[in-house]
Amino acid sequence: MKTSFRLMDLIKGSLESINKIYINHGVRVAFLMDLLTRQEGIKKVLRRKLIFASLFHDIGAYRTNEEKNLVRPIAIKTYPHCLEGYLFLKYFSPLENYADFILYHHSFYDETRSKEFAYRNGERIHAVDRLDVLVLCGESEEQIKKFFKKQKGKMFHPEDVDAIIKIIDDFNVITKLKTYTIDQFANFYLNLLVTSDKKLLFKYLKMLDFTFEYYSLSTLFHSTSTATIACSLAKLDRYKKKEKFKVVCAGMIHDIGKTTTPLAILEKPTKLTDDEMKIMKQHVVHTKEICEGIVDDDILTIAYRHHERIDGSGYP
Ligand SMILES: [Fe+2]
Ligand SMILES: [Fe+2]
Ligand SMILES: [Fe+2]
Repeated sequence: MKTSFRLMDLIKGSLESINKIYINHGVRVAFLMDLLTRQEGIKKVLRRKLIFASLFHDIGAYRTNEEKNLVRPIAIKTYPHCLEGYLFLKYFSPLENYADFILYHHSFYDETRSKEFAYRNGERIHAVDRLDVLVLCGESEEQIKKFFKKQKGKMFHPEDVDAIIKIIDDFNVITKLKTYTIDQFANFYLNLLVTSDKKLLFKYLKMLDFTFEYYSLSTLFHSTSTATIACSLAKLDRYKKKEKFKVVCAGMIHDIGKTTTPLAILEKPTKLTDDEMKIMKQHVVHTKEICEGIVDDDILTIAYRHHERIDGSGYP
C-alpha cells in the first residue's frame, strides 16, 4: 500500500488545536483566493501557490499574537506577523518560494506600485484578506463594495478590486462567508496536497513539527529527537525501508495531540498530580483524533500506541 498523507489537513489540525482564529481565517482567505485567481485568469501553478500561501498567510501571528490587529476593518501598514510568517515559511517549510508573498500581504498598492512578482501576489492576498476581515467585522455587502471601490488604486490593485466586486456579485461570496462552516470552505481544496512523495512528505512533517513551537518548544525538540532515535532503532532492527519510513513518520506526529494539553500541565516542572496525569494521558487520544483519516492506518497505530509497554501496560 502506498503511504500518502493529506498534508494540509494535518498541519491545519495542529494549528487549529493551538489557536483556531488564525488558521480558520486562513482557510476562508484561501477559499477567496481560489475564486479571485479564477476570476483574474491566473494559471494553475501560480493559483495553487497563492492558495497555499493564503492558507498560511497569518501563521506568523501564532507567535506575535496580533488577534486585535488582525480583525479590524482598516489594516495598519506593517505587522510583525508578516515578517514572522515570512521567516517561518522560508526556513521551516517547503513553501519557501511563497514566503515573499506573505512578507508583503499588508502592503498598500499606492505606496509600492511595484510590478515585482512578490509584491503583486502579496497585494492579491491583501485584497482577499480584507474581504474576509470586513465580513468578520459585520460589514454589509453594500459597505464592503463601497470600501473596495474607494480603495481602488490606493490600498488595492485596481485589477483585484474589479475581481473582488465580480466574485461578490457572481458567487454570492458574502452570504457564503457568513453561513458556511469552516469545513465547507476547507473541503474545497484541502485535498490539493495528497502526496506519497517521501521527500516532500518529510519536509511537510518537519513543518508540522515546527508548528509545535508556537505552543511548546519542548514538544518540538521532543518530537524531532524521538523520530531520529526511532529511525536509529529501526535501522538496528534491520527494518525494511518501508517500515523504517512508517516508524519515522509516526515519531514525528506521535505527540501532535499535546497541542490540546494545557501548558500548565505539559510544561509543569514538578511531578504531575493524578488528575493532571489523567489529562496528560489524553494526548494520545487527541493525536488519534487529529490524524485519523489523514495518515495511513499503520502510522496512526504506531503513533496512537506510543505509550504502550511491551507487557501491554501503559496507555491508552
Ligand atoms: Fe495578515
Ligand atoms: Fe489575514
Ligand atoms: Fe506522548
